[in-house]
Amino acid sequence: MSQYNFIAKPTIDGAPAEQGIVRGDIRVPGDKSISHRSIMFGALAEGTSHVSGFLEGQDALATLNAFRTMGVAIEGPQDGKVTIHGVGMHGLTAPSAALDMGNSGTSIRLLSGLLAGQGFDVEMIGDESLSKRPMKRVTDPLALMNVDVDTAEGGTPPLKIKASTAALKAIHYDLPMASAQVKSCVLLAGLYADGKTSITEPAPTRDHTERMLEAFGYAVEVDGPTRAVVGGGKLQAADIDIPSDISSAAFFMVAASLVKGSDITLRHVGINPTRIGIINILRDMGANITLLNESKIGGEPVADIRVQGGELKGIKINEKDVPLAIDEFPVLFIAAAAASGETVLTGAEELRVKESDRIQVMADGLIALGVDAHPTADGIVIQGLGGTDKRIAGGEVESHHDHRISMSFAVASLIAEAPILIKGVDNVATSFPNFLTLANDVGFNLEMIDA
Ligand code: S3P
Repeated sequence: MSQYNFIAKPTIDGAPAEQGIVRGDIRVPGDKSISHRSIMFGALAEGTSHVSGFLEGQDALATLNAFRTMGVAIEGPQDGKVTIHGVGMHGLTAPSAALDMGNSGTSIRLLSGLLAGQGFDVEMIGDESLSKRPMKRVTDPLALMNVDVDTAEGGTPPLKIKASTAALKAIHYDLPMASAQVKSCVLLAGLYADGKTSITEPAPTRDHTERMLEAFGYAVEVDGPTRAVVGGGKLQAADIDIPSDISSAAFFMVAASLVKGSDITLRHVGINPTRIGIINILRDMGANITLLNESKIGGEPVADIRVQGGELKGIKINEKDVPLAIDEFPVLFIAAAAASGETVLTGAEELRVKESDRIQVMADGLIALGVDAHPTADGIVIQGLGGTDKRIAGGEVESHHDHRISMSFAVASLIAEAPILIKGVDNVATSFPNFLTLANDVGFNLEMIDA
C-alpha cells in the first residue's frame, strides 16, 4: 500500500486571533454506514435498486466488491450513483476466494450475519488494523444461532463461516456492549432464522439497519430497547438517497468552532437522532450550531448545519452521548484541547477497539503537541489550553493508519503555532476521499507528501 503523510500548517502567520479561521459552504461525502447497508440490501432484494449519494470510499467499496464477487451485477459508482440488480435473499453465489474487507469493521461484522444464512462456505479477511479487531462479539451470538463460525486464535479475522443447509436458530440476544455492528449482525442473521430473532441493546445505537430494512419492505418490531425480525421474509428493491455523513461533517464542525470569525455551512447532513452526539457535546461545550432546512429523505432526517466560531469550555461529557458520537471522539478531543478548563470522558472503552486504540493514540498525539492529556481505562481527561491566544505546539504525530486520527490532527493545525507532521494518512480514503481538497477550500493549509 502507498504510504502518505500530511503536513498540516498553521493557516496565517498574522495576529493569533486571525489564525485558524475557516469559512465556506460545502457538502461532505455520503454516510458510510448507510452506504454499506444500501449495497447489502439492494443486493439481496428482488428488483433493481438505485442509490444516490453513495460514499466512494474504500470501506463502502469493499462491501460493493464483495457482492460483485458473489455474483451481483452492480453499475457504478459514478458521481455517487449506484444501480444494484438484486438477486433475492438466496441468489448469491459462493466466492472463489476469501472476501477482502480491507479496513472495514462494518463490512466484516454485518456480512458475517448476512452470509451465515447463505448455504456456502465463506472466508473474510482484512488489513493489518482489521486483523487485530475483536470478532467474538459477532461470532458468539452467531454460534448460538447454530452457525459454524471460526476466527483466528484470539478471536480476530480471518473469519470463516461453514455452509449450513438448515435455517439458523432464532434467538434473543442481550447485547453485552452498545454496538450497532453487533446488533445489525444478529438481526441480519435473523432474516435467515426459523422464527423471531430479537436483540436488546444497553443504550441506543445507530439504527440505519432497522430504518433501511423497513425501506426495503421488511418489518422490524420495536419495543423499547428491543428490536426483532421474523426470518424467511423478502426484501423489495428501493431507491435510496444517502445524506452526507455527520461523522465526516464533524471535522468541519469542530474546525469552525475553534476560532472566532469562522463560519461554515455543511449541506444535507444526516441528523438521525442516533448520530447527533457531536451536536449535543459541542453545544454543551458552548459551540454555536444552527440547524437549517430540516427535512426527511428516505426515512432519514437531514439538515444543513451552520457552525460559527467562538469560545469553547471544557465539560464532563454526558455518557448517554457516547454511543451517539462514537466515531467523533478523536476530533472532539481537539475541541477539548482548545477549550478553557478540563474535559472528562468516561464510559467510552469501545474507543480502544476501533481502527486504532483511539484513547491511547489520541493521548500520545496530544501529549506530543504539548497538551496535558491523561488516558484512562474507559476515557480521557484533557486540560484545555483555553482561549484563542494559546496554541498547541507543532510536531510529529502517528495516526496508526486510522483515518479519523489523521483528520483530527489536521483540524488541530488550525490552533497550532508550527506545522504538524501527521504520519500514515493513507486510510483517510476509507471514509473521506476528498478531505484534503475540501479542507484546503475552507482555509486549512494541508499538503500530502510521500512517507
Ligand atoms: C457502525 C457502527 C459503529 C461505528 C462504525 C460504523 C455501523 O461501530 O463505530 O464506524 O455502521 O454500524 P460499533 O458497532 O462497533 O460501535
